[in-house]
Amino acid sequence: MRSETDSRPLFRTRTQVGIVGAGPAGLMLGHLLHLRGIQSFIIEDRSEEHVIERVRAGVLEQSTVDLMHEVGLGDRLSRLGLRHEGIHVAFDGRRHRIPLAELTGGRAITIYGQNEVVKDLIGARVASGEPLLFEVEDVGVAELDSHLPKIRFRLKGGLHEVTCDFIAGCDGSHGICQPSIPASHVKIYEHVYPFAWLGILADAPPSSEELVYSLHERGFALFSMRSPRVTRLYLQCAPDENIEDWPDEAIWAELMTRLRTRDGWAPNEGPVTQKSITRMRSVVVEPMNYGRLFLAGDAAHIVPPTGAKGLNLAMADVWRMAQGLDAFYRSGSDQVLRDYSARGLRRTWRAQRFAGWMTSALHRGGNDDAFEHPRQLAELEYLVSSRAAMTSLAESYVGGPLD
Ligand code: FAD
Ligand code: DHB
Repeated sequence: MRSETDSRPLFRTRTQVGIVGAGPAGLMLGHLLHLRGIQSFIIEDRSEEHVIERVRAGVLEQSTVDLMHEVGLGDRLSRLGLRHEGIHVAFDGRRHRIPLAELTGGRAITIYGQNEVVKDLIGARVASGEPLLFEVEDVGVAELDSHLPKIRFRLKGGLHEVTCDFIAGCDGSHGICQPSIPASHVKIYEHVYPFAWLGILADAPPSSEELVYSLHERGFALFSMRSPRVTRLYLQCAPDENIEDWPDEAIWAELMTRLRTRDGWAPNEGPVTQKSITRMRSVVVEPMNYGRLFLAGDAAHIVPPTGAKGLNLAMADVWRMAQGLDAFYRSGSDQVLRDYSARGLRRTWRAQRFAGWMTSALHRGGNDDAFEHPRQLAELEYLVSSRAAMTSLAESYVGGPLD
């Protein structure tokens, strides 16, 4: 990165934990470490506005909500979050309610946009006065198998080197940390689904108090929301489609066809303020660490969005990583860090199982679809008529305690 003749200044910094990526994983890790008196240095290659405004997850599991409260960031969540004690599954023109809280001893989900979580975490970071640098360039990590791994990057033309005790790779699915692990030390499991989600945000009051996951003969659709004035909607499309080929009228027509139920329920329409297409895949990186580099969140695993698990898994990872780092700095023991990957992989595969099941139950067009569709309808009939089956979905959907 720097040649012998390079005359640009090199800024050297020392920290305990260097964090690459200021998404939910990196920011929550920084906050958890700050609360334990452990220094960290966070770098992010996008702008602060971009990180805040990126529209992504919306469903927080009970354990994520509890964590936000525990770390002192529950205020806006309590005011703006929408606690949902049930979801609907729709097929064959009918909606069926699954009473999540009743089936799980009172656990529920909360609708609170990922961008709100990120806003809360950035606010806490700024208040802590600890470093958080946006718009850094040419990020690289080095000497990962030493006791002093390094992060190098450029900022406004200057070269920076941060020497760390540990590096947390929280840089998402397109980051540089995971690819910096020598290929011989990792196994990557991947499954690509033959569809994508087209998502929109619309200025329209939600017409249902709870989410509606729908299987229609034309494909999957999902009704969700962000606030009492904003509806969030998704529909299954082909993985190679372009958002430019989907005028708003075509999106609404398709959403109405797939979501309207025989009792007359349908989403409210309103101006579309954001739209995008996301491909769907599952990835698991094993192990989640190499030397002094520990991966968390989408840098370590990607789940299809149907089960609403990605952000929640990211939070569970950094909670566990913070425990390990805390034990290391308090007692010098690396036992918890040594278990980090095995414990994380157990939770990850549980989430892959559930998200994969939700995805295959609700999307059309996989292998052998002529056989699959009636089988899916039988699966959903069973789901909504069996308390045991609904309890199984509810337990996974609201998520287990952090572990
Ligand atoms: P990210 O949010 O991707 O953050 C990584 C950060 O690292 C980014 O800010 C990125 O800019 C930065 N970065 C990348 N490379 C570098 C670099 N070289 N140097 C410095 N910084 C770098 N999950 C749920 O739990 N519930 C849901 O309802 C849900 N719905 C979803 C809907 C959609 C349409 C999508 C796309 C995702 C959804 N998810 C959901 C998944 C969730 O958004 C992700 O799992 C979550 O963002 C993961 O957080 P993260 O911090 O690991 O990664
Ligand atoms: C939302 C996203 C999901 O992936 C999901 O399963 C449910 C809701 C949302 O963005 O609101």
